[in-house]
Parts: sequence; C-alpha cells; structure tokens
Amino acid sequence: MTNQDVLGEAARRRTFAIISHPDAGKTTLTEKFLLNAGAVVTAGSVKAKAGGRSATSDWMELEQTRGISITSAAMQFDYRGHVCNLLDTPGHKDFSEDTYRVLAAVDAVVMVLDAAKGIEPQTLKLFEVCRARNLPVLTFLNKFDRPSRDPLELLDEIETQIDLRPTPVTWPVGDGEDFLGVIDRRRQVFSKFTRTARGATMAPEELLTFDQAATLGSSAWKRALDGVELLDAVGADVDLDSFLAGTSTPVFAGSALTDFGVRHLLDAVIELVPAPPPRPDVDGVGRPIDAGCSAFVFKVQANMDKSHRDRLAFARICSGHFERGMTMTIARTGRPFATKYASTVFGAERSTVEEAFPGDVVGFVNATDLRIGDTLFDGRPVAFPGLPSFAPELFTGARVLDTGRSKQFKRGLEVLEEEGVVQVLRDPDMGDAGLVLAAVGQLQFEVFAHRLESEFHAPIELTGSPYQAIRATDAASAERLRLIGGIRIMRRGGDGATVALFENKYRLQRLLADEPELTLVPLTADLA
Ligand code: G4P
Repeated sequence: MTNQDVLGEAARRRTFAIISHPDAGKTTLTEKFLLNAGAVVTAGSVKAKAGGRSATSDWMELEQTRGISITSAAMQFDYRGHVCNLLDTPGHKDFSEDTYRVLAAVDAVVMVLDAAKGIEPQTLKLFEVCRARNLPVLTFLNKFDRPSRDPLELLDEIETQIDLRPTPVTWPVGDGEDFLGVIDRRRQVFSKFTRTARGATMAPEELLTFDQAATLGSSAWKRALDGVELLDAVGADVDLDSFLAGTSTPVFAGSALTDFGVRHLLDAVIELVPAPPPRPDVDGVGRPIDAGCSAFVFKVQANMDKSHRDRLAFARICSGHFERGMTMTIARTGRPFATKYASTVFGAERSTVEEAFPGDVVGFVNATDLRIGDTLFDGRPVAFPGLPSFAPELFTGARVLDTGRSKQFKRGLEVLEEEGVVQVLRDPDMGDAGLVLAAVGQLQFEVFAHRLESEFHAPIELTGSPYQAIRATDAASAERLRLIGGIRIMRRGGDGATVALFENKYRLQRLLADEPELTLVPLTADLA
C-alpha cells in the first residue's frame, strides 16, 4: 500500500456523530442513514426498545433493565463511494462522560432538533463540547410530519441560543398532515415524498421544479416559498469556511420517521464534512495522514459480553494504514502493543477487522494495557494530547457494604477510575476513606455500583453528598478556602487537579465576587 493509497482512503472517510436531546430522533435518523446507504434493508434493526430485545443494547443487565443503550461504538457504512463512520453517542437523558469523549474522536456532528421543541437542555450541553473543539455542525430539524414550530423561529433560536449562523440547505413544505417534502435551495427543486408504512423502507421521492410545484395549488407550498425568498433575501447560504470553523451550520428539514429529507442530509455529510485532518500532537504539530499508523483511544468499555468478561478499547485511527497483527507502541508506557484482536463492533455483533484507515474506529479486545487517551503508533513516535476530564455536575459518597470486601472495593475502584467510569476525588489526608465520586450523569454512578458488585463482588451503597459545585484551585487559594465552612479541598484522580467542592453554589458566587484574587477556575476550561 503506497502513501497515495492511504491518502486516497482517508479522503473517502467521513467520521461524525449525532448529538441530540433524548427523543429528538437520533436513533431513528441513524436507522434511516443505514437504510439510505443500503446497509440495512428495513429500518428497525438499530432501535433499542424499552423492555424488548434490541440489536444494539443487550450487553449489560443494567442496559436491559433500563431498556437503553449505555455502550457506544461505531458503525461503518458506504455511501456514494465514501466510507461513513458514525460514532454512537449514548442518547439517553442520563448521559455521561462517554458521550463527551466520543466527540473528541469525530470530525463533525449532526445536531438533531425536534421541530416542535427546538433547542433543548441536552442539545445545549453537547453543543458546548462541540464549540470547545470547533467542530463543524450540520443541523437536522426533525419531525415535520408532526405539527411543528415555524421553521424561521427555529433558525432564530439556533442563532440566539447557541450563536451558530443557520444556513438552510433544505426547507420544509408544510408540517403535520400537510408535510409534503422539502425544497432544496441550492438546486432549486422540490423533493416531494410519499409516506411508507412507518418509514420502514425508503420514502419514494419525486423531484419537481418550482413551476411544477406551484401547480399543486397547496397553501403549504406558498408559505414555504415565502420562507425561501426571505432566506434568499438575507443571504442565508451555506458558507464552507464558517461551517468548518464551527460558526455557521447548514440546516436540513425533514422527518426521520418517514424518511423525508434524510437523503439530503446524508449527501451533505459526504459533500461538506471534512475528511480526517492531520491530528495535532502534544506540541500542536499535525501528524501527516500518510505517516506511520497512529491512533488514540477514546473509549474503554468493559464487560459488554457477560460470558466473555472482556474489555474493549476503542481507538480512532489518525494516520497511516492499520493492519491487524501489526505491533504498535503505546506512547504512555513505551511498551509494544499487539493488535491481533482488532475488531469492529456493530451493535452486539463483532467482526475481525483486517485493515483500517484514518477516521476509522477499531476495537481492541482485552487490551488491558490501554487507557482512555492513550496514543498508539507505528514508525516515527507520536503522542496526541490526552482526552480532557470533564466538569462533573453530580457528586456522591460511596460505602462498601461488607467491610470484609474492602480489598475488592479498592481494586474495583482502581480499575473503574482508570477506565473513566466516574471521577474519584480524594482528600489528600484521608486516601480512599471519605472519597467523593463525581460524574457528568447519574448513569455513571449506577454503572459504577453495578460493576463493583457484578465484577468485583464488592456491593456498595451510594451515600449522596452535600456538594453542588466544583472548581479547580491551587495550593495558595486552597489554604484560604480550607478556613471557610462548606468547602472541601480534594484531589482529582487522573489529572491530579486540586479542586474545591462547594456545598452551596451561592457561596461560590459570593466568594468569586468578594475575593477575586482566589483561583477558582471552572473545570470546563479543560475542554479546549
Ligand atoms: P432518540 O434516539 O433521539 O432518543 O430518539 P428516537 O429516534 O428513539 O425517537 C424518539 C421517538 O420519536 C420515537 O417514538 C420515534 O419513533 C419518534 N420519532 C423519531 N423521528 C420522528 C419523526 O420524524 N416523526 C415522528 N412523528 N416521530 C419521530 P417512540 O414512540 O418513543 O417510539 P416508537 O414506539 O415510535 O418506536
């Protein structure tokens, strides 16, 4: 394989994720992407159903009982001569740091909004991570087959709430029962769709010129045309530079359920999302795409399959040609890493992966030496920046129920902390006694407790905690903060940051105003 071949393969890759508030339609849209790409014949094979068996999410008991997908992996499908890597971000409301980490491994995101609701809290949170990484964002306004808000109002919300300039590519014609299809502004055609039963197959699409559409005599058409004229007048057209810089967003309208407008969005993934760029190393120098193979680990998932009790490390290939069996080096330890057990994971199915290219995701089975944020390389050494720890919002204490199992608890804590299941905050004077667990989502605590019990036989009780806010601080400020009630100084495992925990958010705010000389930095600053 020549360097030219590697560059050619990389140029065909599109690596992205879908972000959305729960129920906005991420799963449905994923299905329709696979349907449009011909990767599945009928939709319905991806969706996780509460209480029912599902193709993607029967790995963990916890998932089964909650009927949701905790584990995330990547799906790969071919579309129009390109290879799409769609990384799954767990979409449940109990989202977690895993969701954030996935966003470190993609080159763009599709943001799905429910057209009846607009921007919802979790969309905002996820979007902040995209912004911190300047990720390009495509927006899909979903569910126009239901009564929806005025699309112009939705654009306004995108602009004012998240400061992204919306540039519609398609525009809805009607909504609810009257939803007929979408106008493609760039090509000046109307895609008129016909519904199929629950959108199980691709929606038949008829292309009409504006003149032909006008003869339909529909009031929805007239309204849509007015909207489009307004957009033309204000020049809301796709601008590639600002899209790539993460400051404008091409907008698509449609209905994932009925497969209206999905193809337009998928076409844009191919046409607008950048091919994998050289990934900057710790010194900020991009590793050329055709350099020796390199990858970074963005997710470690243990125990997906109970009968195997294994551990999968997911790595994104950043440069070069990956071939199963090659020996790479782990940058953190300098130790060799054999890649014999490389696989792809699609739902519960795994298959051996023989080769991969920049942008692809490879799962390494039982790679106990790998940690989140690790760099693997072949040839000239490289180390990519580690993944940031995210600002936790939830805190709890934990107590091992059977003190005879303290050793198992300690071991489990070590493993789960290293995997990034939760963040562990310790009082430097007390060690594991009185530790505080911190997380972005409640689900992380549940997974932590579940795994301690099932894998390490050390059942615990989550004891809650009085803390409401956290800030990074330094030694000098910590001295002062220790003298104030309702504040605890701790150290975060992993990055060793000194942090201050506050029992009361308002006390923190007062302190920021009264003693501005204190170092109290939001942990989100880590995101950059
Ligand atoms: P999520 O992954 O973002 O959480 O959302 P998901 O795709 O699971 O969709 C949430 C609900 O919204 C589902 O209904 C789904 O069918 C529905 N939905 C998704 N896209 C559309 C759309 O374009 N139009 C309409 N009308 N509905 C849509 P559910 O009742 O929770 O599940 P189901 O029983 O219908 O499968």
